[in-house]
Amino acid sequence: MPDQCENGCRNRPRRARPPLRTIRTRSRQMNQKAVEVIGVSKNFGSYQALKSISFDIRSNEFFTMLGPSGCGKTTLLRMLAGFESPDTGSILLNGREVVEIPPHKRRVNTVFQSYALFPHMTLEQNVAFGLENLGWQRSRIRSRVGEMLERVHMSQFATRKPAQLSGGQRQRVALARALAPEPEVLLLDEPLSALDLKLRQAMRDELRMLQRDTGITFVFVTHDQEEALDMSDRIAVLGGGEVQQIGTPTEIYEEPVNRFVADFVGETNFLPVEVLEAAGGMATVRTPFGQLIRVSAPAGVTKGAATLSVRPEKINLGDQAPATAFPAQVVNKNYMGGYTHYLLSANGTEFRASRRNASREGDTIPVGGTIAAGFAETSARVLLA
Ligand SMILES: Nc1ncnc2c1ncn2[C@@H]1O[C@H](COP(=O)(O)OP(=O)(O)O)[C@@H](O)[C@H]1O
Ligand SMILES: [Mg+2]
Repeated sequence: MPDQCENGCRNRPRRARPPLRTIRTRSRQMNQKAVEVIGVSKNFGSYQALKSISFDIRSNEFFTMLGPSGCGKTTLLRMLAGFESPDTGSILLNGREVVEIPPHKRRVNTVFQSYALFPHMTLEQNVAFGLENLGWQRSRIRSRVGEMLERVHMSQFATRKPAQLSGGQRQRVALARALAPEPEVLLLDEPLSALDLKLRQAMRDELRMLQRDTGITFVFVTHDQEEALDMSDRIAVLGGGEVQQIGTPTEIYEEPVNRFVADFVGETNFLPVEVLEAAGGMATVRTPFGQLIRVSAPAGVTKGAATLSVRPEKINLGDQAPATAFPAQVVNKNYMGGYTHYLLSANGTEFRASRRNASREGDTIPVGGTIAAGFAETSARVLLA
């Protein structure tokens, strides 16, 4: 097989996956800050889209901005890219103020939900385009394009045009194109939402691997909480124009600081409780089921009426219920195959529980029956309003 054919790289022999060492050695350590957003606000007319937001993104991390549609995720991403400027505040990329710096002078690239490939160009031309604009030498461009297409498993389609590809393949090419110039930060605006479910799942793993292998800081935007929990090193939950919480997926899910986060990320029960005493991150509360329990509580929780969050999967039923269990009526149930979801009622308070059907006989609790229900103190958390 010839080393090159007339179009340059179509029949190039397959190489082992390139290590992208150039990027990894250049990238900084995880404890350094790739992005600093400091007091950034943005109004559209009288509408306050972002209210003085501040947070840092570490070098080499997979950072996700998660929030409902319209909460300002794209606006924030466009500011990092330089397509939009903040009304107040500053944005630092690797320690350098960039608010006055135009998009093409920032080492930041974006992958969009709509791929935004050039339809009249082949895949390799699409990937080469940005490198040509940067003035890279022809031979370096050729080798980089080959390397990137291989990395996203698209080498065999190098001479096709975008219209000849599926959605997932187009998104891979868009990724290759955005990563080719070795950006310091890659911005991804809901890049998987146009793909079907199975593909979305596979692409999550690919994206995560790509991020680990390249060591490039990824800033990923999504409204899909599962995507965020699955992929991220850290998540910023946005809502109402503000950062509601920043933390690891486990912190966000297990220790939501407020009702918005507990409700937006996963399912939960909000139980009305009375706080009898709160100090040092713990509180003593009386539940509507008559128990007195010691649970974790964020700073700011005080005596009086409050809300306790308990996830449905943390409520144990029947012989799995703890010693502090109470009797509950089964109001309704939904058999989902792997799980059964129960709607229960005790002392006039309804709540949900879900149970894994770990054996053939898993779903035997009848609607209308009474069953023991309970949860560990460590599974519940008092919330700020
Ligand atoms: N150029 C604009 N002019 C007016 N309103 C805008 C503009 N861009 C965004 N908005 C508004 O700002 C809010 C945040 O938008 P956006 O950042 O796109 O949200 P998200 O990406 O989280 O869905 C929305 O209410 C949107 O309608
Ligand atoms: Mg958006």
